[in-house]
Amino acid sequence: MKNIIVNVCLVLSVVTISVLFLEGCSKANETDLQSGNNTVCDTVNMAYQADVQPILAKNCYSCHGDGAAPQAGINLKDYGTVKTQADNGNLIGVITHAPGYPAMPFNLPKLSDCDINKIRDWINRGAQNN
Ligand code: HEC
Repeated sequence: MKNIIVNVCLVLSVVTISVLFLEGCSKANETDLQSGNNTVCDTVNMAYQADVQPILAKNCYSCHGDGAAPQAGINLKDYGTVKTQADNGNLIGVITHAPGYPAMPFNLPKLSDCDINKIRDWINRGAQNN
């Protein structure tokens, strides 16, 4: 009988600790989201050189550069290639993790909403070399 009570206590402690731990995590995420929302994100009149290219350089060039073998044969340092991928829907598909597209950056965290919306605005304005 004593053993059963000890076991029940152990199980209860583990459950309590897990619940506290998980709550801690969800609180942390909430705070992150809130600070993200408070950050000013300019997504109007986005231009290639000033706004889009730096995002690609930081998040994509490591695999899609102009080296010997860019992933999927796509060299995103070349504006013409970026334009093609923007116009055929691949670019927005891969960065928004849309169904049917390989999620980019490959095996890495999704771009921030701010960066995605900057690229989306540039595409909607005709993906110009500006
Ligand atoms: C760690 C390496 C890596 C990074 C970083 C990366 N990619 Fe990729 N990319 C790949 C691989 C691997 C494939 C081929 C995936 C497949 O076909 O399943 C690919 C394929 C693609 C394709 C072709 C999709 C298709 O349907 O054919 C596009 C477009 C693309 N990536 C864009 C990007 C963009 C934009 C970024 C940055 C936001 C990025 N990638 C970052 C490795 C990477």
